[in-house]
Amino acid sequence: MEGLKEFSPRLMIVSDLDNTMVDHHDPENISLLRFNALWEADYRHDSLLVFSTGRSPTLYKELRKEKPLLTPEITIMSVGTEITYGDSMSPDKGWEEVLNQGWDRGTVVKEASRFPQLKFQVETEQRPHKVSFYIEKTKSSEVINALSKRLEEHQLDVKIIYSGGIDLDILPQGAGKGQALAYLLKKFNSKGKSPQNTLVCGDSGNDAELFSVADVYGVMVGNAQEELLQWYEGNAKSNPKVILAHERCAAGIIQAMQHFNLDPNVSPRDIVGLSQTGAKYFLLGHEIVEFHLLCERWRRAEVEDSNEIFQRFKSAIDPNCSLLHPWGVEENLFTSIDVLRQCYGDQKGKQFRIWIDRIRPLKISLDIWLVRFDKWELIERERRCCCTTALLKVKPDAPNSLSWIHIHETWLDGCGSSTNLCCSI
Ligand code: GLC
Ligand code: MG
Repeated sequence: MEGLKEFSPRLMIVSDLDNTMVDHHDPENISLLRFNALWEADYRHDSLLVFSTGRSPTLYKELRKEKPLLTPEITIMSVGTEITYGDSMSPDKGWEEVLNQGWDRGTVVKEASRFPQLKFQVETEQRPHKVSFYIEKTKSSEVINALSKRLEEHQLDVKIIYSGGIDLDILPQGAGKGQALAYLLKKFNSKGKSPQNTLVCGDSGNDAELFSVADVYGVMVGNAQEELLQWYEGNAKSNPKVILAHERCAAGIIQAMQHFNLDPNVSPRDIVGLSQTGAKYFLLGHEIVEFHLLCERWRRAEVEDSNEIFQRFKSAIDPNCSLLHPWGVEENLFTSIDVLRQCYGDQKGKQFRIWIDRIRPLKISLDIWLVRFDKWELIERERRCCCTTALLKVKPDAPNSLSWIHIHETWLDGCGSSTNLCCSI
């Protein structure tokens, strides 16, 4: 299980993507960015993020290009039929073998093709253990019943799932998002790495079985689909570990963390002005997230153009801090940060966002951290990623603060920002 931590995760979030983590009605992705900041500041270093989507690997990758999604440790795709680990997304072969048992894809396709009401979805969504169609709501129950009967006659034990009032998936009986999660939990348990808490999050029919997994907290987001709400009425209403949020999508996930006292649960993006200095759950994560968030707000003119605010940047940088550019030039960041002063408001009213992904910390001495992370920038419709390695040191006179002592940046588009320093901070 490459990419996994060596210890029991403090929290494992298992979230659906479309209309749960991602709000397709919010072009600015406000709640997703709020979640991202919370996760990277307080959870990335000791918890597990799992995405569980109906999408195939192809459509999942498309979504990653469109939306500011974090990189999860585990990706479950194609309605719980494909499990992959780490950044390289290496597949869980054991799970494929489990699903092969008693599965006869050819017969499923042949029998389903007899129903003209079922329209095949695109080729990318037809997967080794998933056959997918569209069908109108009004015709769905009748077709599902008739199709189940026919498949039973062939001694085929399958699972038929209806989602979003339009999608119909046929999977092996042992597949699905809930079964995939149960399989993972069993695997963790056998290695003595069970998560301390698990929160599952969803909005539609294919998420229902996530809420039946033993001992998990669950949130159905405020915009949940009719078929999931019906399932809730019949199956989960009396379960105090499952809530119906009133907030939409990722905001509903944060609401659930607050409801179940999964701490911390306040996103750095929800803190107005400068965050309080003082004990933070994970000082390093907070420094990285808050420093860049302030940079975003400074350039969007969402904070005051004052000495006090600017001082927040300056005081975080060690007077000898060097910034090493990909083309080999090294500059003193403490002096060059002054350029940022003139950038105040240069992105006002524009689509400009900065978010951090994959914070990977390594404590190299009592007071020094070596950390790697990806800094993403969105400027209007253009998105760029900067792989960053940095050294930060606990301030001797203020043990609740860190200062940056070295930063090495590699912009993935190769061009960097030689002319505009503030883009490279
Ligand atoms: C995603 C998949 C689709 C599936 C649906 C519901 O949209 O792309 O194939 O039917 O989820 O599970
Ligand atoms: Mg969904």
